[in-house]
Amino acid sequence: MDNKDFYHRLPKVELHAHINGSISEETIKKLLKRKGREEEISNVRFDKKQTEPLEDSFKRLKLMQTLSDCAEDIYIITCDVIQEFAADNVKYLELRSTPREITATGLSRELYVEAVLKAIKDTSYLDIIVRFLLSIDRRLGVDIALTTMKLAERYRDISNGVVIGIDFSGDPKVGDARDYLPVFNEAHNRGLKLSLHLAEVPAPEETKHILQDLGARTGRIGHGTCLQPECGGNETLVNMVLQYRIPLELCLTSNVKGQTVPNYDQHQFQFWYNKNHPCIIGTDDKGMFDTTLSEEYAIAARTFKLDRQSVWTLSLASIDAIFADDVVKQTLRNKWHELKPTLNIT
Ligand code: IMP
Ligand code: ZN
Repeated sequence: MDNKDFYHRLPKVELHAHINGSISEETIKKLLKRKGREEEISNVRFDKKQTEPLEDSFKRLKLMQTLSDCAEDIYIITCDVIQEFAADNVKYLELRSTPREITATGLSRELYVEAVLKAIKDTSYLDIIVRFLLSIDRRLGVDIALTTMKLAERYRDISNGVVIGIDFSGDPKVGDARDYLPVFNEAHNRGLKLSLHLAEVPAPEETKHILQDLGARTGRIGHGTCLQPECGGNETLVNMVLQYRIPLELCLTSNVKGQTVPNYDQHQFQFWYNKNHPCIIGTDDKGMFDTTLSEEYAIAARTFKLDRQSVWTLSLASIDAIFADDVVKQTLRNKWHELKPTLNIT
């Protein structure tokens, strides 16, 4: 079996996917057409080899969000994104997205969440289990964060646990994560899981406070590319992450294309992997960065010289870090073992 086939067939878990960053070229075209804006395609799409400063990526993400300004768009996008992950043999997917309110189109945060939940329900015939994290955008302030957290609790209860927690994201150079600690604590008290973008850029004081306050209640960290001393972090941060064994969601292409890591070779994956720390490979924004989870596994394997058995173990171990319960975890582990013989791992 050639490499492409192997990484495609490998059963995978995707834990770090922002809905509006994950929109494929096909869906972008479909939405631009719906809106009569076909000529804008080149502004939205990334060239295959292009990199750009993180600030520019955020501008591009804003543009991608203009593609989904009503509930129907969100529904279409979410259905397509789920189908694409399923076609890439992702068996468990945690999507995340920032519920938005757009008065002009009558979109409310509730309708936004309901559109995503309807898409998850309507794609449930696919061989993929999907959960949903509501994103708190750090640019929007604590009041909206609190509203989003309460919305997550409400929809968790009525969606039978499909809404499973919250994500903290947005431009890491804007605002201070410490302001949001009361929201994170309250979310945890209400039984919501937390995945926080932390140390995506050097922010040692902010990161230290969050980790000291939340400890292992920080369910997972998104990126964490600047935890180590040589990347603008320090030993204290590294030791806290190790001590609390907080899984890291590592998105190699996103970090290289967004220029928060100079190249694949220097990606922090190696550091944490060598310490046997839970590392979960993710895509972040597969549409914007023009990648797939299969490609991300292939890049990690090629860059860090992982053989197929190690890649399979890495994928299997990701199940430990999902936010769904032990029943789902066991179902997935069984599936991985069932599929292993089809992968011809020697
Ligand atoms: P949405 O939440 O589905 O609209 O997806 C786009 C949003 O995801 C952006 O506006 C950001 O808030 C967030 N996002 C995507 N990629 C990143 C990242 O690398 N760091 C922080 N936030 C991100
Ligand atoms: Zn992200």
